Amino acid sequence: MDYIKVEGGRALTGSVRVYGAKNSVLPILAASVLTSGVSVIENCPRLKDIDAMLAILRALGCEVTAEERTITVDSSGPIAAEISAEQMSALRASIAFLGALLARNGRAELFVPGGCELGSRPIDIHLWALMRLGAKIRQQDGRLHATVSRGNGCELVLPIPSVGATENIMLFATACGGETVIVNAAREPEIVDLQTYLNAAGFSVSGAGSPVIRIVGGRKTQPTQVVHRVIPDRIAAATWMCATASAGGEVMVTGVEPEPLALLGELLAEMGCGVQFVADAVTIRRVGSLQAPRATVRTGPYPGFPTDMQPLLMVPAVLAHGQTVFEENMFDSRYRHVPELNRMGAEIMVSGKYALCGGIERLRGASVCAADLRGGAALVCAALCAEGESTIRNIEYIDRGYESIEDSLRLLGADVRRVRG
Ligand code: EPZ
Repeated sequence: MDYIKVEGGRALTGSVRVYGAKNSVLPILAASVLTSGVSVIENCPRLKDIDAMLAILRALGCEVTAEERTITVDSSGPIAAEISAEQMSALRASIAFLGALLARNGRAELFVPGGCELGSRPIDIHLWALMRLGAKIRQQDGRLHATVSRGNGCELVLPIPSVGATENIMLFATACGGETVIVNAAREPEIVDLQTYLNAAGFSVSGAGSPVIRIVGGRKTQPTQVVHRVIPDRIAAATWMCATASAGGEVMVTGVEPEPLALLGELLAEMGCGVQFVADAVTIRRVGSLQAPRATVRTGPYPGFPTDMQPLLMVPAVLAHGQTVFEENMFDSRYRHVPELNRMGAEIMVSGKYALCGGIERLRGASVCAADLRGGAALVCAALCAEGESTIRNIEYIDRGYESIEDSLRLLGADVRRVRG
């Protein structure tokens, strides 16, 4: 298996470009089966999770091409209603096909999805909501049999603002009669991007970005072709910001949207980094020592601090003077990078949903294993500032969300390479 080798201790300099958000592209690809037409999706990163989604689209009968960073999906032909267990288990976002295929075909035969192990990741809210809208769903040994004869819009009050459930409802509701109102909807920028795509495709969705989303179903103007440019990947941008805060140096991250990075920018500035947003770029500079942020870093649904940034921010926090307290409120197993960071000398203490860290002079190189995507990226960031050599294994997790992380970091001056093996 391939692994990443890092010789730590080099500051980062230069600029790095961010492409479209993985977590926007994935539901938009599922949505492309709704259009019965051609979708041209621009600014797509080249990632393993996206390849897995394209494989599903091809198996369903779509014509798919991917050139550079533009993906074209033609769903005008007949679309199958079945997805294999293997394809469903490749990634969590495959569950978006439940709503999409029900809307397109009135039937979906799939399996519970896979994805990064961040603790229990049920789909009960997805199923409850689609059933409230009129779908009949039977679950048996991991299989999902779903049918609908006539879906009817209604008000759905979500118990938690689940990103995936909000997306699934938006997709299915496009085919339901009347209006569907999602109350306590997820407000992430990727939800707004899905709304933008759906409206460009002729559907009627409003309110995304606020807690109440309205979908008027059963009505569609028929554009022959939808062209959509995906929003920038805020988590990829956060990765380069936290890598610079950890390793030191000065890096300009381009192609970003400032708003979703504002909270991280404020925290890094409080910790002693120079952070400057200009138009669609952010420059981050760290020369001196770091200070722990005063307040607990609490993860939460957008606009709260993103759980996906928690492992990344933990690396500079380990090196800061004083103690940083993290409170993980989104997933029950999202500290799987901690034992690995501790092998590098981080001395992080975890108790339930809290993690306490800080005050470490320097990390030391070690052989560590990624257990999920963002935790894996955090290990690479840690290796950049560790003394000596580190190896990071299980990098297939990292490849789910980064276009060759080692190439981007090498361009910034880091000594990082992928070893094929
Ligand atoms: C999305 O996952 C992202 N994935 C995750 O990014 C991200 O961490 C997460 O949102 C939170 O921001 C994609 O967009 C593909 P949720 P999702 O439904 O949709 C519970 C990455 O690395 N829940 O908002 O799965 C759930 O267990 C990934 O790119 C239920 O209880 O997140 C969790 O505790 C990792 N029942 C909480 O809600 C349900 O039916 C939030 O999950 C659904 C969710």
